[in-house]
Amino acid sequence: MKVILIGFMGAGKTTVGQLLAEKTALPFLDTDQLIVKQTGQSPGEIFATVGELGFRQLEQTILQENLTKSGIMATGGGIIELEQNRQLLKNSPVPVIYLSGSFGQTVERLVKDNTRPIVRNKSLLELAELWEQRLKKYSGIATEVIYTDNKTADQVAEEVLQHM
Ligand code: S3P
Repeated sequence: MKVILIGFMGAGKTTVGQLLAEKTALPFLDTDQLIVKQTGQSPGEIFATVGELGFRQLEQTILQENLTKSGIMATGGGIIELEQNRQLLKNSPVPVIYLSGSFGQTVERLVKDNTRPIVRNKSLLELAELWEQRLKKYSGIATEVIYTDNKTADQVAEEVLQHM
C-alpha cells in the first residue's frame, strides 16, 4: 500500500480513498468491499450470520492479504478492534492516516445511511461511548491525523497526498 486510511464510520475513508486512487492512478482497495467480494454478503448480513467477531476475523484476513499490494487502502471503522490488526497497522511501513472529524458531523453523515449494523443496533449514547473508546485506538496507530470537519472530500484527499 501507499497509504492506509483509518477512522470512524462516516469519516469519508471510502470517498477520499477513491479520489486518491484517481489522483495517483493507483488501485483502490477497501476492506469492506473486499469482504463483500469474497463472501458475497454485506457487512450487515455477515454480522447477522456469524456475528461481529466473525466479521472481524474476515477483516483481519483481508488486511493481512492486501497490506503488501500496491494501492490506496480504506479500512472499516472497526479494523482497530482486534489487537492483531492494531499491530499489523502499527508495523506498516506506509503512512496510516486517521481521518478525524467531530462526533456531530460524523453522526450527521451516519444517520443518513442505515446500512451499518453497528449503527443500527446502537443508541446515540452507545455510539458516543464507542466513539470515545475508538478515538484512542485510532490515535495510537496513526502516523498522521487529518481533520475533516467543514472540508470537502477533495480537500481532504489533497491533504493526504502531502503525507504520501
Ligand atoms: C464497522 C464499519 C463499517 C463496516 C462494518 C463495521 C465498524 O465500515 O466495516 O459495518 O465497526 O465501525 P465503514 O467504516 O466503512 O463504515
